[in-house]
Amino acid sequence: MGFSGKFFFVSLFLIHLLTLASSQQELELKKCLLDRGNFTSNSTYQASLNHIFSSFTSDIENDYGFYKVTFGQNSDQVNAIALCRGDVIPGDCINCINDAAAELRSLCPNQKAAILSYANCMLRYSDRSIFGILERSSFKFHYSWNGYKAKNITAFNDTLNNLLDTLISRAASGDSHRKFATGTAAVPDSEPIHALVQCTPDLSQQQCTSCLSFGKIKLCCDGELGGRAVGPNCNLRFETYSFYDPTPDGPSTSPAPLPRPAPPQSPSPSDDAHKVVPGTVSLLLVGSESTPEF
Ligand SMILES: *[C@@H]1O[C@H](CO)[C@@H](O)[C@H](O)[C@H]1NC(C)=O
Ligand SMILES: *[C@@H]1O[C@H](CO)[C@@H](O)[C@H](O)[C@H]1NC(C)=O
Ligand SMILES: *[C@@H]1O[C@H](CO)[C@@H](O)[C@H](O)[C@H]1NC(C)=O
Ligand SMILES: *[C@@H]1O[C@H](CO)[C@@H](O)[C@H](O)[C@H]1NC(C)=O
Repeated sequence: MGFSGKFFFVSLFLIHLLTLASSQQELELKKCLLDRGNFTSNSTYQASLNHIFSSFTSDIENDYGFYKVTFGQNSDQVNAIALCRGDVIPGDCINCINDAAAELRSLCPNQKAAILSYANCMLRYSDRSIFGILERSSFKFHYSWNGYKAKNITAFNDTLNNLLDTLISRAASGDSHRKFATGTAAVPDSEPIHALVQCTPDLSQQQCTSCLSFGKIKLCCDGELGGRAVGPNCNLRFETYSFYDPTPDGPSTSPAPLPRPAPPQSPSPSDDAHKVVPGTVSLLLVGSESTPEF
């Protein structure tokens, strides 16, 4: 069937991915923070929150996908942070944040503090100060391949560990608008690793390093072929397939990967334990464990 046939299937695959990406926000983390208490219907606090939720419009679109918003006075003050993944374009960013706001409104109808994270954006708010403050609670960890491991764990482990260290230091040295890094590393006899790390840029360099390092330690490296750490201040993800747009990260240390038309292959032909395909992976939930300090 030649070139056009292949092209047809490649296109189908890409369309499939794009459709998945746009038709449903992939939920990674949600949490109503009950310990901060509730507000009552029609209260001033609710008005502050509504004001913030309605403020994410294209009018305030910025190039960084980072919003730090405060509204209200004294005990009715709401602080919010919204952050899009660094490779998400502005229009998609605003849409993602608005979806998150709508979902938080129904998930946590009267909680004074809450957080929700999709694959493409995160939104959190609280009645207490949250800017530049490192949160160690409310982290979620998720593996993409159900415990399916790399063939050579040592080789995979070393490569992943080095890649994440490089990306963490690059992201942490970003400015107050953007702390984001992506990169790819080759693994001998295996698929390359693609990784992405990001902090909310209100964190200091040290806080960002500390947040991502905590995520890395919990997520990496025992041979898992993909995983995510999602927290209020930072997130980290790696996969053996390409899952981000390599361009917005600017001049990167590794060349942009060649187009990879096929879906990720099972690393071993005999394995059918995982039926995960990119784009549908990982609806992560969402503990009920109590984590105070929000
Ligand atoms: C807050 O509201 C939730 C239901 O939305 C309820 O379960 C909880 O008991 C309330 N907490 C307080 C302190 O009133
Ligand atoms: C809140 O305000 C709306 C519109 O003003 C009103 O219809 C509703 O009854 C109020 N709810 C409470 C609980 O006061
Ligand atoms: C695994 O990788 C390490 C480091 O790259 C290498 O030294 C070792 O020989 C490999 N083991 C196997 C079984 O291929
Ligand atoms: C993987 O690397 C980490 C950090 O270098 C190390 O702590 C861990 O023991 C290694 N695990 C395996 C299975 O090689």
